[in-house]
Amino acid sequence: MSKHRVSRRQFLSYTLTGVGGFMAAGMLMPMVRFAIDPVLKVDEAGDFIATSKKVADITSEPERVDFSFKQKDAWYESEVTNTAWVYKDDNGKIVALSPVCKHLGCVVNWNASEDHPNEFFCPCHAGRYYKDGVNVPNTPPMKPLDVYPYKEKDGFLYLGKAQPRKEA
Ligand code: FES
Repeated sequence: MSKHRVSRRQFLSYTLTGVGGFMAAGMLMPMVRFAIDPVLKVDEAGDFIATSKKVADITSEPERVDFSFKQKDAWYESEVTNTAWVYKDDNGKIVALSPVCKHLGCVVNWNASEDHPNEFFCPCHAGRYYKDGVNVPNTPPMKPLDVYPYKEKDGFLYLGKAQPRKEA
């Protein structure tokens, strides 16, 4: 027979402490996660997605570049494809513009209007943007196209999350 016998009172005390601790952890974990989630989100926003575009092949003519990545929404994972209009400016600097029109969210195309060549054109309400993505005054869009941050890795273009253009 063991010398360490557990009394009924001790057994109840251990059991209630264990169950109480388990329940407290269950309540605290979501709160802790909620508190640190924004910190985790900053890291995700810093992710860059590989495209199939070689940096050396980028010219001064805007070209459509599609790139895909997996997006997790709670338990549901899906493949998302985004598009950028990419070119090199007069200084050889890469410019990657979001195609999403800042008026009501249609998709803009490069050089798509015969009347307004060398501009981005939105077919929905004839919105127009200059080559650098700035909205043409007196057309429906009130803001410039968003800009993708970019990186070069192993000769390929990587794009981050499109952000509103910083005012000069
Ligand atoms: S959605 Fe582009 S001009 Fe209206």
